[in-house]
Amino acid sequence: MGPREAMKIIAVSGIKGGVGSTTVTAHIATALALQKQSVLAIDFCPQNHLRLYLGLPWNEDKGLISQLHTGGPWHQHCFKNDSNVLLIPFGNAVSSLSAKADVALANLLPKFSTITEDAKLLDIAADCWVVVDLGHYNQFHTAAGARFDELINGVDLLLHVVNPDPFCYGMLSQLTIGRRELTTEKILLNRFCPVIKIERDIHDLIQTEYAQHLAPTAIHLDENIRESLAFNQTALECAEYCQAAQDFHLLTTWIKAGSATRW
Ligand SMILES: Nc1ncnc2c1ncn2[C@@H]1O[C@H](COP(=O)(O)OP(=O)(O)OP(=O)(O)O)[C@@H](O)[C@H]1O
Ligand SMILES: [Mg+2]
Repeated sequence: MGPREAMKIIAVSGIKGGVGSTTVTAHIATALALQKQSVLAIDFCPQNHLRLYLGLPWNEDKGLISQLHTGGPWHQHCFKNDSNVLLIPFGNAVSSLSAKADVALANLLPKFSTITEDAKLLDIAADCWVVVDLGHYNQFHTAAGARFDELINGVDLLLHVVNPDPFCYGMLSQLTIGRRELTTEKILLNRFCPVIKIERDIHDLIQTEYAQHLAPTAIHLDENIRESLAFNQTALECAEYCQAAQDFHLLTTWIKAGSATRW
């Protein structure tokens, strides 16, 4: 098996803004690292927030977008945190992109399918997991003018993050989940609070209607997540026995176990 076959790319995409794609990306990357896997986390979202869960301070603005200024490779700025997650932040989109935003993103996105080739140049195992925060779906229709299908070309597992609310449920019908040949797609319910009736109802509806496309574990609403963000960490490091930490470890165990059979 060559390095391309061994390396797996997981992309995390919010069905809309604010549902938790950055949170999910950071926690999956960290859970994999804590389970002794090699992990490269990449932030493809111009908000550049992934770094804040993974140990980088607000004033660290280097990242893949910096290549636009330097002409260097997109993976030039790598940071390894205490949990052994190797991170490539997006970089400071405000100062780097400005009026060139569309062009910049459009230039970057086609390189996504070559991540595995470029990652060989990094100090990381050939069988590493690449976990990517794509931000939310619409962003790549409007800002970059790139089609989502082109963007995710080369991804092994695509997680669509949704919250258990009527907006997200309605938006699910606009996705063409499960119709791509090469990429496995799953819906991941995040911020689930089972004591709230409408959330239980929507959870049950999604389970009934999307059956095999629903990830087997939902991520519960857990204040430890925001608490840990205040410490530049994930809940897996700050509150290792909390509900969300258990959910993410379970999800990650499923991700690892399913990679051979493509979930
Ligand atoms: N399961 C959860 N329990 C509690 N808080 C959560 C959970 N998931 C996410 N959050 C909190 O919700 C907020 C939004 O999460 P996040 O930034 O990950 O969303 P996003 O989809 O990446 O947003 P954006 O579209 O702006 O990039 C954050 O404050 C985060 O800490
Ligand atoms: Mg985000």
